[in-house]
Amino acid sequence: MENEVLKAIRERRSIRRFKPEQITDEELKTILEAGTWAPTGHGSQEPFIVAVQNADQRATLSKINAEIMGVTSDPFYGAPTQVYVFAEKDCDNNVKDGSLILGTMMLAAHATGLASCWINRVDQMVNYPEMQQFMKQWGLPDGLIGVGSLALGYASSHPHTVKPRKEDYYRIIK
Ligand SMILES: Cc1cc2nc3c(=O)[nH]c(=O)nc-3n(C[C@H](O)[C@H](O)[C@H](O)COP(=O)(O)O)c2cc1C
Repeated sequence: MENEVLKAIRERRSIRRFKPEQITDEELKTILEAGTWAPTGHGSQEPFIVAVQNADQRATLSKINAEIMGVTSDPFYGAPTQVYVFAEKDCDNNVKDGSLILGTMMLAAHATGLASCWINRVDQMVNYPEMQQFMKQWGLPDGLIGVGSLALGYASSHPHTVKPRKEDYYRIIK
């Protein structure tokens, strides 16, 4: 069976080189809106999605992430938009809900001609005072956990060649 959605699922790749040009507001809203349609446990819609395009804030956030990673390069690969997903600490499904939102946004990005890559370490970024300050400024409630983030923008590199799927990835029990 083949259709556009299945093709997009197969062809989405993590992109790690971005043009400096910012994506349009319409493109950004399309991706964020797609994220809001991801399923959440009990339909709670408890996570929070924040897109950061402000250059100063992005630079600070990249620096925090780089420090955690122990590198001096930009972990967001210079992407003009960083998208963060946070979730309630006490929600049983927090990481699952947030991860599905990130996955849905990556697929939506690919389907609309944008490039994205999951960027880790947001769980540790939230422990930094500068990040806490931003989260207050962004109007988020206290005590959220960081699930993950995306580098988002226009690709300036071709997708990498993809490994074949491992042989025994799934099994069908009848
Ligand atoms: C939970 C998770 C964490 C990831 N963290 C990073 C990261 O910090 N930096 C990065 O460049 N890629 C990161 N990736 C992207 C993976 O490396 C990428 O999805 C994988 O190599 C498969 O490539 P594909 O997405 O093109 O299929 C992450 C992906 C996932 C699902």
